[in-house]
Amino acid sequence: MKQVTVSAPGKLMLLGEHAVLYGRPCIVTAINQRITVTASLDAKPLFTLSAPDVQIENYQKPLNQLGKGDIPKGARFVEMALYNFYNNYNRYTKKSGVRVTTQSEFSSWFGLGSSSASAVCVIKALSELSGIKLDKPAIFNLAYKTILAVQGKASGFDAAASVFGGTLYYISPGKTIEPLNIDCLPLVIGYSGVKADTVTLVNQVAEKARKNPQAVESIYDNIGKLVQQAKLAILSKDWPKLGKLLNNNQLLLEKLGVSSNRLDDIISAARSSGAYGAKLSGAGGGDCMIALYSPEGKLAVSKAIKSAGGQIIDIKTNAEGVRIEK
Ligand code: PMV
Repeated sequence: MKQVTVSAPGKLMLLGEHAVLYGRPCIVTAINQRITVTASLDAKPLFTLSAPDVQIENYQKPLNQLGKGDIPKGARFVEMALYNFYNNYNRYTKKSGVRVTTQSEFSSWFGLGSSSASAVCVIKALSELSGIKLDKPAIFNLAYKTILAVQGKASGFDAAASVFGGTLYYISPGKTIEPLNIDCLPLVIGYSGVKADTVTLVNQVAEKARKNPQAVESIYDNIGKLVQQAKLAILSKDWPKLGKLLNNNQLLLEKLGVSSNRLDDIISAARSSGAYGAKLSGAGGGDCMIALYSPEGKLAVSKAIKSAGGQIIDIKTNAEGVRIEK
């Protein structure tokens, strides 16, 4: 049976979260830890999924039931990606069944985009298996549709990072996807030990905006402005400037109410140990924080993050986007 293995990187939001849902830009980078998906066609019209990292073993569904009924959490992105692929392209393809196995180099608890990367992989794998060659923008569009179907509201920044790789200046919904031509960024990543729920936080911010539209809009505007400055600072490798912008972004996220005591503690420990700047990354409430270190400063920043209760995640930024492995 025809089989293909593809992989896609996870992501790290650098600046601009939340505001990116409301038309402002963000900067996201692809990380060197990847999701790998192996897919093969099945003569029976069945979808079979094994995703041991998220406790899914031999989950099965007839193709005509895709997207229907109760879908276990760990299977949602893969099943909806498949559903979207068949919905868009079944006029070209005989609907044969498919077996999918996913494997992750990082825990889905870190909030580093394992779900969107798995959706991207599934779409790329199906395009290879069915002979319908999709280019990167087409893969992005289907992956974004998938994330919207599962999450309700989403900017698509994570799918952009998984598909295109590198470090991107991004405006939703894929209106601008601009690669920033740089190397790996000098960042330490600390996991707060708490799993964040993106949908809850997005709703919380939306509720705040409903009650106080002007104040929240002006926070979004300020985030948008600093993201533009950050883009220039990144391109010119002006790390002290970028550090200040990370700190300002964190302040604005605190005003939106999405930081947490735990994140605040880890972030201030990183700053006190000499980091140029630090902030939460992603929806907030938990997940990861990032700290930009000065030359020679990496060890001190890592130690400070650890002593404040953070877990260091050893990753490099600016990784390659989705690719075929074999
Ligand atoms: O929680 P994460 O890492 O998926 O990041 C969410 C970022 C938001 O801007 C809050 C949502 C989005 O889709 O852009």
